[in-house]
Amino acid sequence: MKRPIDNSIGLFLFGQTPYTLSMSKIDWLEVSERIDWLKKPTVAGDYSFHKPVSIQWFADGELNVSYNCVDRHLPQHANEVALIWEPDNPAEASKKITYAELSIQVNRFANVLKKQGVKKGDRVTLYLPMIVEAVYAMLACTRIGAVHSVVFAGFSADSIANRIEDCDSNIVITADEGLRGGKKIELKKNIDEALELLSAKGKNSVSKVVVVKRTGADIAWTSQVDVWYHEESAQVSDVCAPEPMKAEDPLFILYTSGSTGKPKGVLHTTGGYLVYAAYTHEKVFGYRAGEVYWCTADVGWITGHSYIVYGPLANRATTLVFEGIPSYPDVSRFWQVIDKHQVNIFYTAPTAIRALMREGEEPVKKFSRKSLRLLGSVGEPINPEAWSWYQRVVGDGRCPVVDTWWQTETGGILISACASEDGTTYPEVLKPGAATRPLAGIYPEILDTEGKILTGAAEGLLVIKESWPGQMRTVYRDHARFEETYFSAFAGYYFTGDGCRRDADGDYWITGRVDDVLNISGHRLGTAEVESAFVSDARVSEAAVVGYPHDIKGQGIYAYITLKNGVTPTEELKAELRQHVRHVIGPIATPDIIQWAPGLPKTRSGKIMRRILRKIAENQIESLGDTSTLADPSVVKDLVENRSNK
Ligand code: WT7
Repeated sequence: MKRPIDNSIGLFLFGQTPYTLSMSKIDWLEVSERIDWLKKPTVAGDYSFHKPVSIQWFADGELNVSYNCVDRHLPQHANEVALIWEPDNPAEASKKITYAELSIQVNRFANVLKKQGVKKGDRVTLYLPMIVEAVYAMLACTRIGAVHSVVFAGFSADSIANRIEDCDSNIVITADEGLRGGKKIELKKNIDEALELLSAKGKNSVSKVVVVKRTGADIAWTSQVDVWYHEESAQVSDVCAPEPMKAEDPLFILYTSGSTGKPKGVLHTTGGYLVYAAYTHEKVFGYRAGEVYWCTADVGWITGHSYIVYGPLANRATTLVFEGIPSYPDVSRFWQVIDKHQVNIFYTAPTAIRALMREGEEPVKKFSRKSLRLLGSVGEPINPEAWSWYQRVVGDGRCPVVDTWWQTETGGILISACASEDGTTYPEVLKPGAATRPLAGIYPEILDTEGKILTGAAEGLLVIKESWPGQMRTVYRDHARFEETYFSAFAGYYFTGDGCRRDADGDYWITGRVDDVLNISGHRLGTAEVESAFVSDARVSEAAVVGYPHDIKGQGIYAYITLKNGVTPTEELKAELRQHVRHVIGPIATPDIIQWAPGLPKTRSGKIMRRILRKIAENQIESLGDTSTLADPSVVKDLVENRSNK
């Protein structure tokens, strides 16, 4: 049964704990007024976390996202800078794109898509480097009501093919090549390969590939399919009326890894997502007009969607788009860019901080960083040492550090320290490593494994009990998987997959995933995906993959591999398998450690006991626990003796 979300007194009726009662309530309809609606919604949330799960926000409202991110700023602020683009190579010129220019480019791109036959509701796959055209393309899709699926440019041809097939996309936007850390990435070639893979299966739905020229490299060309973006955009008008969209029309699909099976298409819809991205961007970062805001994520991840593109542009911010990496041409690159563009707000991932921390203070101190006002962290738990270094060295002890917890599924930040009402101050004491408090309107609970609510200071599983506008609505074309993944562990709650501790002050500390999802340098991967990449090599009989603590990446990939009879385990074979997994998924999935496993610890019913494999990978041999239920306890002895992580 659906129950309308209440914004006020209703919460008192459900017998909440005192802590919950003290959390601020919110009028989401009032929050929704921060964006421009063609038709204002009269209802806020309408949802049920019980099966059949259904989530709707602002359902009778109508709007257009590109209008909100671009057009509505034009009358008063056309000449303010929307995007600052900083190239991979500092010797190349950076770009400043005003809202007026952004409007022209988005309208043109929208007309190019229309001319290629893209219609409202069609899925458009984007496989692009961090160039301004990536932002134009995303906004162009929203302008005509097409649903974008951005695939991170580090993913392989195989991964792209799976994602194109899953959403049945008929158009792809890519670039000739990408540039990262001085290296070229053959994007167009990967797309060609992906389309060949799909054709071989009789599943190639793609009729057009729009190619943006980035490096000018010589690339293969299929004239019936491939079109140059610069040629097409010169032929179309720079006026394209924004398509009126219903609040619950799909906005984008973003594939993310789960604990089982193939990556799933997380579906976000139009009205709720935009309201939530804009609301949280303001609450957490306290953005003030004229400030330069820089989030170092890639548009291929949710952080890039919500906090490089949609949140900042809906809030008329100046948002920096960085093509490069923190260590090229040297490890001062971030700090040099901060000075060059006078960045005020800087938002990055713990893995980058840990890597840069290792280089010492000197590369940081070479630059002034005086413009900085606020620092943010996202993507994985930040260890207190990294948090303190970020605060003390990068922020010179004067900038608050906000640790923002959220997920692809949540659309925007749910737990973080926030700016005061006037956007000027943050809580005086910020604890290194704590995500702190839920945002107004977010109601987390900590449960034990039985589903009992734990009150006060406690550690357990993190769930959310009321919906919020930015919540994902479904797994694309697989609502059963959506219900199963998020709403079956604890009836009536959204289960995050994270462990969490709440301290006596009521601050939340995220302890990491409790499922088979890995977080490698802030990138999410399922153990099942990596395992299936391994076994797709004919020499591998069985693979079991777990995470282990890694100094820089947070987690590393540890793989136990059983070879087929007659295959000789050699160091060369390890290198080949490592290469194979990279090729199947992408470089982010490169296994760190491979251990030959003559046998894997299994229960008598044949289930692999990952708990034991995790302990061996973590080198915690003394706490292996009970192995007596194993079909063959002796395999553990071999794995312990030959472990590679001693
Ligand atoms: C998982 C979601 C949403 C941003 C990018 C990652 C972990 C994310 C934090 C944080 C501790 C964090 C969680 C979460 N995570 N931010 N501040 N502290 N853990 O999005 O790929 O969907 O991954 O990242 O484990 O479940 P994602």
